[in-house]
Amino acid sequence: MCSIIGYIGNRDVAQILLDGLSRLEYRGYDSAGIAGIQCEEISVVKRLGRVKNLSDAIDESVKFDGIGIGHTRWATHGSVSLENAHPHLSFHGIFSLVHNGVIENYESIKHFLVEKGYEFYSETDTEVLVNLIEYHFKKETSLENKFLVSVQKALLHVRGTYGIAVLCKHSPGEMVVARKSSPLLIGIGDNEMFIASDACAIVAHTHNVVYLNDGELASITQSDFSVVTMKNEKIDAVKCELDWRIEDVSRGEHEHFMLKEICEQPVALQNAMRGRFSDDLSTAKFGGLRLSPRELRQVDRILFCACGTAWHACLIAEYLIEKYARIPVEVAYSSEFRYSNAPLEKNTLVFVISQSGETLDSFAALQEAKRKGYRTLAITNVVGSTIARESEGGIYQHSGPEIGVASTKAFTAQVCVAAMLALLLGRLRDMSFDDGVAFVQALLQLPEKVSKILEKKDEIRLIAEKYAHHEDMLFLGRQSMFPVALEGALKLKEISYIHAEGYPAAEIKHGPIALISGKCPCFFLATQRNTLQKTLSNILEVKARNAMVIAVVAEGSKIPPGCTDDLIVVPETHDALEPILATIPLQLFAYYIAKARGCDIDKPRNLAKSVTVE
Ligand code: F6R
Repeated sequence: MCSIIGYIGNRDVAQILLDGLSRLEYRGYDSAGIAGIQCEEISVVKRLGRVKNLSDAIDESVKFDGIGIGHTRWATHGSVSLENAHPHLSFHGIFSLVHNGVIENYESIKHFLVEKGYEFYSETDTEVLVNLIEYHFKKETSLENKFLVSVQKALLHVRGTYGIAVLCKHSPGEMVVARKSSPLLIGIGDNEMFIASDACAIVAHTHNVVYLNDGELASITQSDFSVVTMKNEKIDAVKCELDWRIEDVSRGEHEHFMLKEICEQPVALQNAMRGRFSDDLSTAKFGGLRLSPRELRQVDRILFCACGTAWHACLIAEYLIEKYARIPVEVAYSSEFRYSNAPLEKNTLVFVISQSGETLDSFAALQEAKRKGYRTLAITNVVGSTIARESEGGIYQHSGPEIGVASTKAFTAQVCVAAMLALLLGRLRDMSFDDGVAFVQALLQLPEKVSKILEKKDEIRLIAEKYAHHEDMLFLGRQSMFPVALEGALKLKEISYIHAEGYPAAEIKHGPIALISGKCPCFFLATQRNTLQKTLSNILEVKARNAMVIAVVAEGSKIPPGCTDDLIVVPETHDALEPILATIPLQLFAYYIAKARGCDIDKPRNLAKSVTVE
């Protein structure tokens, strides 16, 4: 949801900004723009659509004097137009600003500024903020830190969320940045500085970073930076080392990030498990939970909060933890939980799952649970992300950067972590040593089994191409395969724009079966032995109504001839891990359908990764 980059140094500023923006484009692609100081004035170049359109517009005449900021936009306030694109310029041209977030009280500030003679060219909340900064700058009499103080004063009047980077033409060697609920980090180079909303924009240049916390501002020059609070108290910033490599944020040999990330799943699963089993290989361990076995034993209930694909991972976690650890689990959409004031039992443990660790609704759900005094933990992928830092403990997925807008490897890693959590909690209760050992063995074999499914890529591509012309599809599964069905439907709709729904297989008789015809193929997740016969009956019910059927089944399952039109066979595994194996064909199916339909797979329409607005 919008992204920000900034650079101060001796290299070609526009080029560094453009490179960073193209790495950040998955965060929004409605428009892109850069601004820099050139011949003592602020110069801005913006274009609608992709970063490519912007780079085509940059010629020799754009030569910023060692400082610049850039932005890709996912429209919130105001339509997709050049006027609304960032960076925004203040009325008297003194400031330029890029912003990620939403200024909620922008209308009243705008009204105030209009009365002071300010005029506006855009419909955005951001233009209001840059003018409020200018207003304070013009009023400010002190010469010391005038730039920083004006930003501070303006932000004190702002309600909402922001990650901002600001340029001031009267302070041409300095950039001021600030954050509240929108990520921002400073990259420290060799006599050069970077700022970004996401580490992948700067990982090619430096691994040395400082994450700003909420309510902090920083004044940055080419060789130094200082971090202060809104009340100007100095903060000792903590430097961290990024563990991402440049290859992690490049597509490599793959045509799309989504396919690259699907193929990375064996490694992502290995990374999620590395160092996390007991020496006797009978249980899992997670140091980051910061809870003793005794404390974990006292947990009476678990609440999971998440959005989208991560919410599907929570639903699978519910099945696994209830089945193997016998602890009651509830799952809530973060966006619903944060406003629901739901009653929670005393010894409830609250888990937020978020790949990015920046999803605003999930962050708000975490804060709400914390406010109520519950122990809050997070399962996140991005180290140092807001949710990871604000929770009291948690588990990193270690999936590596996920750039494709449709989440794939992060989802299976989340389910893997959930399975390990079920194992850990189960072993603290009634799961036997032998059952624990069998569980761990199955986990250790998982990456190889995923690789086996990936070898069937071409087979799945041919099946996908056969169904690519359909406009409706149902995904059906029982028990823990129901959330997998939801995930299959979500993958398909978000990247191919085919209408798809996930349902518990037996539920369709209660309504959705009315949709069934030759025009609505049904995709069954039928890997579970104990419910296979029941699922086969459901398959026959839709077949009797002319539906084409694709089914994912486990090796060795007996499927009567003629029951299905297309069959995808996956290796057998432990019950708890079937959702992971069944997901891989669904991801490939959605990918190849979207490809056959000519869709923009890594940047689906209207979507962006890391949803930092409500
Ligand atoms: C779908 C997808 C989204 C995210 C959701 C939560 O493929 O990627 O539904 O799962 O926006 O994002 P995180 O996990 O970053 O909180």
